[in-house]
Amino acid sequence: MPINLMQTSIAPQASASLTAALADTQGNILKSHGRDHSEHLFVRFTGDPAACGGWLAMMADTHVTTALEQFEASLARAEAAAVVEGILDPRAKARAITILPDGGAFVNLALSAAGYRALGLADRMPDDPSFLLGSKDASILAKLRDPAVEEWEAGYQGELHALVLVADDDAENLAATVAAIEASLAGTDSAGTPIGEVAHRETGVAMRLDDDGRPLASAPVREHFGFVDGISQPLFFASDIAEARRRNGGIDGYDSSAPLALVLIKDPGGGPDGHGSYFAYRKLRQDVAAFKDGRRRVAEAIALEAGREEATPADEELAGAYMVGRFRDGTPVVVQDVPGWTTLPNNFTYDGDADGVRCPLHAHIRKVNPRGDTRAQLGIPLGGSQARRIARRGVSFGPQTLDPAPEDEVGLLFLSAQASIVDQFEFTQVSWSGFPDFLRPGVGLDPLISQPPPGTEPAPQAWPRDYGSHDQIVFEDEGNVVISPYLQDISVGPLVTVRGAEYFFAPSPSFLRSAG
Ligand code: HEM
Repeated sequence: MPINLMQTSIAPQASASLTAALADTQGNILKSHGRDHSEHLFVRFTGDPAACGGWLAMMADTHVTTALEQFEASLARAEAAAVVEGILDPRAKARAITILPDGGAFVNLALSAAGYRALGLADRMPDDPSFLLGSKDASILAKLRDPAVEEWEAGYQGELHALVLVADDDAENLAATVAAIEASLAGTDSAGTPIGEVAHRETGVAMRLDDDGRPLASAPVREHFGFVDGISQPLFFASDIAEARRRNGGIDGYDSSAPLALVLIKDPGGGPDGHGSYFAYRKLRQDVAAFKDGRRRVAEAIALEAGREEATPADEELAGAYMVGRFRDGTPVVVQDVPGWTTLPNNFTYDGDADGVRCPLHAHIRKVNPRGDTRAQLGIPLGGSQARRIARRGVSFGPQTLDPAPEDEVGLLFLSAQASIVDQFEFTQVSWSGFPDFLRPGVGLDPLISQPPPGTEPAPQAWPRDYGSHDQIVFEDEGNVVISPYLQDISVGPLVTVRGAEYFFAPSPSFLRSAG
């Protein structure tokens, strides 16, 4: 039975058609799988289409986690967690937390357009134009300002047909599932050729670190610049929206609920209930030293404006928050000029800060989700920018530290789920983050994720001179008189480098089964 993709706040238990649709949709799309350890297997098929199709069917039957299974496991965990929350004795409570059900192994399987073609299934693949071209196409490289494929890590340079994401809270169980999947790929077709090979592999880690970078099991997940990540996500399930109401400061100021159509499309190759989602994958190396250098330069300029000779730790904190839009602990800088909110707040907009004197217009989270700024500044209603949102499902790679050695490769295995690569991921990356005149002329690039056009130097960004102040002061700049509330001539970024990328589609389990 078809489901209405414009609905949000879904309660699958209450609807037979929703239950059927979620049973024929993969997990990690409507909700993050939430496991701390993950392996990303990039598969190249080598066997004949019949044997490879049989492997896809086996994966659906044996390994792939459906959205329904993931949802039911999360409900069971939430019920157990609610019981634990009610335990008054702190020692008993701490013990009970360690035995909460962890959901076990999680597996996702997504195919690239090259993968569909290699399997002889091109007539059943979805038709997003950028998905069909793939990340290595010259037009996509130019659009995203990505480095030439020859500069990518060797493992990404050849054709990649599938991404198998295996995740588990238990590292040993994870290794066992990965070994079983690798062994199944070594099976042969009728000519004796293996079904496929793991052409490249990445290990993901959810870095649970305290503010000082020390491991702490109960800490929220951070990325390598030191900021808590994964706070703001589009929400689809009634239970997640209720949780956000309770824990993330409410949703009356900024509504994070989203229609299923933000991330799901009907799978053209699947059965009547089958749905899928496009995945944009990018391995992004983070330059932590460049981040710290940029933060220091902004902090020194803030200090100078305030008449201090040297930047204080508070200046550094504020400078970092100007780059990201949140302090390291997640406190939004548009709300206050110091960290310290105790919950992970997401109930805010930029309505009272049209000039970006509290949260710069170029700050990462303001560029990638303007939260209605387009209405305030350009007259475009909130619905328009809300439809660009992506569901972030990425995880860090490299040593778990906020102070990596210069030779350490650290960063993010960025993965976003969306219903359109062109209108969501690419639009966000190119027309918002990478467009120096969004939302206003002269704002500059998102310092975290954007590259200037080839052969050009990044232009200075509009950093607030004095938090919250519209006072304009007069500068002398190369003989010109400038009147502005922003610091002058400070440019930060680029801070990440693309090491490899591909677009995938996570098809419905019914499609995977029918390939066999
Ligand atoms: C939010 C870091 C790449 C889109 C965030 C947050 C951090 C962060 C710290 C704030 C936490 C939160 O609100 O959940 C990074 C780093 C990146 C990276 C270090 C690269 C290594 C990207 C890319 C995109 C993106 C490539 C998309 C093109 C978003 C979105 C949000 C976000 C949509 C939520 C914004 C909101 O709703 O307020 N990121 N990010 N990020 N990021 Fe990134």
